[in-house]
Amino acid sequence: MADAKNKTTLDSLKKHRKRLTDRPMRQLFAENPDRFRSFSANCGDIILDYSKNRIDTEAMAALIDLARHAGVEARRDAMWAGEPINVTEGRSVLHMALRYGGEEPVLVDGQDVMPGIREVLERIKTFSDQVRDGSIKGHTGEQFTDIVNIGIGGSDLGPAMVTLALEPYTRADLRAHYVSNVDGASMHDTLKRLDPKRTMFIVASKTFTTDETMTNANSARQWLAEALGDEAVNDHFAAVSTNLEACDAFGIRADRVFGFWDWVGGRYSVWSAIGLPVAIAVGYENFAMFLKGAATMDNHFRTTPLEKNLPVIMAVLGVWYRNEWGFATHAVLPYDQRLSRFPAYLQQQDMESNGKSVTLEGKQVETETGPIIWGEPGTNGQHAFYQLIHQGTSVIPCDFLIAAQPQESMPPHHDKLVANCFAQSEALMLGKTKDEVVAELKEAGMDKADIKALAPHKVFPGNRPSNTLLYRKLDPATLGQLIALYEHKVFVQGVIWNINSFDQWGVELGKQLAKALLPNVQGATNGAEHDSSTQGLLAYYHQMKG
Ligand code: F6P
Repeated sequence: MADAKNKTTLDSLKKHRKRLTDRPMRQLFAENPDRFRSFSANCGDIILDYSKNRIDTEAMAALIDLARHAGVEARRDAMWAGEPINVTEGRSVLHMALRYGGEEPVLVDGQDVMPGIREVLERIKTFSDQVRDGSIKGHTGEQFTDIVNIGIGGSDLGPAMVTLALEPYTRADLRAHYVSNVDGASMHDTLKRLDPKRTMFIVASKTFTTDETMTNANSARQWLAEALGDEAVNDHFAAVSTNLEACDAFGIRADRVFGFWDWVGGRYSVWSAIGLPVAIAVGYENFAMFLKGAATMDNHFRTTPLEKNLPVIMAVLGVWYRNEWGFATHAVLPYDQRLSRFPAYLQQQDMESNGKSVTLEGKQVETETGPIIWGEPGTNGQHAFYQLIHQGTSVIPCDFLIAAQPQESMPPHHDKLVANCFAQSEALMLGKTKDEVVAELKEAGMDKADIKALAPHKVFPGNRPSNTLLYRKLDPATLGQLIALYEHKVFVQGVIWNINSFDQWGVELGKQLAKALLPNVQGATNGAEHDSSTQGLLAYYHQMKG
């Protein structure tokens, strides 16, 4: 946590936790019929119901104080002012500028970044319009029907998740595919259904050095050149990167290269030209609405008092559970099949940002930091892992996400989806006591001995926390809002933990070692320089591969 000035707040949080340990939510709801009104807030059409948490007014006030004392407002303003808050890389953090859309200048090192942003957006618009209307064609004069985005991490998860979420806005005759893994299976299985004459590749990489992406890009180029000849490659490739020289060296023509800037972190880049495949898939107007939705949430985050500020509320609740109650994981459970990749997207968003153990000053942190984020859409998860959420020994705070309006008229599907979503948070909160179980079994006519044996298995402890995010419809603007909401939540938590949420040094060691191991894997050497486990695995690998 930030420093000693938080000490009083932290001590008070401990007291609140002790007090609330003996007051389950069931009791808190019974005592306060207005609980929903007291503990819900909104940003436009998104309502956050956070009443099913282990809080009361005093605890919530202490949590908001924690955010205030940690300097969340000052740091948020420093981010927007273009200060280099990513201290270990000496960079500003200005993904909010990408979707700002306003008239005021946004400065980095005294330079307004807005003209550059507008120029790239204009190019995305022109290019995506032309691919969609067929005026940009493949080498043989055929219209493009398939766009393959080659990228990984932030250059894949964002656009892939968004394209899936906005499926109702896509066209059946223009499909976006995403290849990220260096596992050749991914590229192979994607290409086997595609016609090179009608396929465009977008190589998306902030650095344009990421090994997986470059390996996949080279394989795609080879596939295309084998089918259509080397001279066709130029007409079938585009690139998105901050490394324009590397795009040129790869052979991608300048008018097909879309730039962005080092103040856009990879996991915040879906708002930049990394969103190009989204703009092609759903059309520029929808992409613009997506940006606008995020800007609505940015404005909410920047101007709403902390007590009513959605990202702040979600952030402090997360800190409450992680640090005071010791809950290690957090589940994101969209009751929205099209958000099936949202948990995976948030894994990078949250875990790459806040999976840190040193403070901004380089000292070991004294509390736990980022939680493990995981999840799957409901209702599928209900028939798989919810058992553990309801009756397991670990308490897992959950976020439920649900739209009021479905995209398709298929009664009674959506009513059932909503009923299930609301039922889960109610069940988690209420639980079922032993008395209730016994009464139910008696009612069903079971004899005393059987009741005695079965009852303990049917008890639900309850008091299990959740948030529900209810939104009107999963349209582009709402999706933009939701993503920005989580981005800011993660930001606030990083400020409270006093860590740098914008670097990712933890991914480097594995990359270095993979590079060092490749010659051992490719040759038949035993890799004597490695540990005995790695040597043993290499030896078996060479023996098995034959
Ligand atoms: O290795 C992690 C990472 O750097 C992520 O932060 C990033 O989103 C991803 O790799 C891809 O990087 P790039 O866009 O430079 O290829």
